[in-house]
Amino acid sequence: MTLSRRQFLWSAAASSVLLPELLAAQAAAPSEGSSIFRHGVASGDPLTDRVMLWTRISPWAGASHPMDVDWRIATDEQLTQVVQHGTAQARGERDFTVKVDAGGLKPGRHYFYAFDHAGQRSPVGRTRTLPAGSVDRLSLALVCCSNYPAGYFNVYRAVANRPDLDAVIHVGDYIYEFENGVYGEGSTLLRIPEPRREAVTLSDYRIRYATYRSDADLQAAHAQHPFIVVWDDHELSNDAWAGGAKNHNPELGEGDWATRRAGAYRAYLEWMPIRETTDRDIHLYRSFRFGDMADLVMLDTRGLRDQQVVADDIDGLVDPRRTLLGERQRRWMFDELRSSQRDGRAWRILGQQIMFAAAALPRRPVLLPDAWDGYQAERSRVLDFIAAERIRDVAILSGDIHSSWGFDVPKNPWDGYHKDTGAGSLAVEIVAPAISSAPLFTTDALLKAGEPGLRSSLPHLKFLEGDSNGYVLLDVTRERLNADWYFVPTVSKRTAAETRAAGVVCERGSSHLVRS
Ligand SMILES: [Fe+2]
Repeated sequence: MTLSRRQFLWSAAASSVLLPELLAAQAAAPSEGSSIFRHGVASGDPLTDRVMLWTRISPWAGASHPMDVDWRIATDEQLTQVVQHGTAQARGERDFTVKVDAGGLKPGRHYFYAFDHAGQRSPVGRTRTLPAGSVDRLSLALVCCSNYPAGYFNVYRAVANRPDLDAVIHVGDYIYEFENGVYGEGSTLLRIPEPRREAVTLSDYRIRYATYRSDADLQAAHAQHPFIVVWDDHELSNDAWAGGAKNHNPELGEGDWATRRAGAYRAYLEWMPIRETTDRDIHLYRSFRFGDMADLVMLDTRGLRDQQVVADDIDGLVDPRRTLLGERQRRWMFDELRSSQRDGRAWRILGQQIMFAAAALPRRPVLLPDAWDGYQAERSRVLDFIAAERIRDVAILSGDIHSSWGFDVPKNPWDGYHKDTGAGSLAVEIVAPAISSAPLFTTDALLKAGEPGLRSSLPHLKFLEGDSNGYVLLDVTRERLNADWYFVPTVSKRTAAETRAAGVVCERGSSHLVRS
């Protein structure tokens, strides 16, 4: 998401005043976790019989040789009922991260896992395999935009405190690439992202992930639930597209985009509990089947897209030559939706980064040219496909905009759509607020002033809140999909408090959100 000039100037001024003293204080503070497993454990990309397990060894300074790391996964927290075990290697060429695809598991069960190296044991993580067959209920958390210098990860703590999730879906901005002080003032909270300069090289991105993963609340969330993740722009650079980014500046010595993109992608794969493909090119789109309840189709709307146009380039916004998904991914997505419907799954859930629904009138300047509003022909291709193939019960999950939205998704909200009954709607959309990035309306008075106008001009908008940090809890049964927004009271100090702020429900067959 684009950073406003005002935000930039404010944060740059604050950092130059506070930085030296606070950096010294941070250097003296004890690091969280003094073991060789100081970045915790994580799991992700669960299937019915397997799950990815992750940890990292922090080698002694200068150590570069490969190290054997034993792993085990068991049905009990004490790790006595071991189901699978083995030895993996932590190697310098993968930043000493360890990833294991642990198989031989049973569907819909909790498992516990840990790693051992040199007489030390990692924290014990808990994970869960996907259910198979008949499923009564699904519980998912939707999160995004965890900006380390901007605030504490209270949302991750709240998510960790939930015992009952099938998975956590993170739709991107897991890290932010900016130099400290540019977006989120780490000096204020002693949450300075290393390296302090903007992350540009492979080494920079690795160090940035290490900073984030040193956070105890993030570690707790990872240790409690499997994550299903996809990146957004800030794992690369602000407003990234396949061939560049708004915040990529070769003239400032940041090198060529292809090298930066490859480094960012490599660090992402190293540090995230994601199952890797053999593709040499970026390939993050993939799907997950939750028995007969839902297919979760995870899209990469960031790494394969054409360049953004400006907000008032009306012809550019609707140009049919511009793609957001790329041809190959779009064909794959259509196949996934078609087979999900044919096989009788109750719901089709699209996990993706950016707001899908229209937030501007047709042929008018848009609020977010970086979101689907900036790729209107691509959005029409998706909606035309859903309509033509009669794909039903589609829920789109989004993040990126640092605010909470709920939408019906008709082809044209101002023509052929009935806002009270939802007639004409083809899907629903749930947008999660940021974990810790400054909420949209708190950063821009002009946008805040425009909030009533958004409400009155968007008939398909069913919920909007732009002043809070939080997450979305999705509770899914065969009859309905329920989304509740939970907000945390602050990100300026650590707290486990949260409140349910609002909820919407979509009855199956309706493609229509109603406040609950
Ligand atoms: Fe963000």
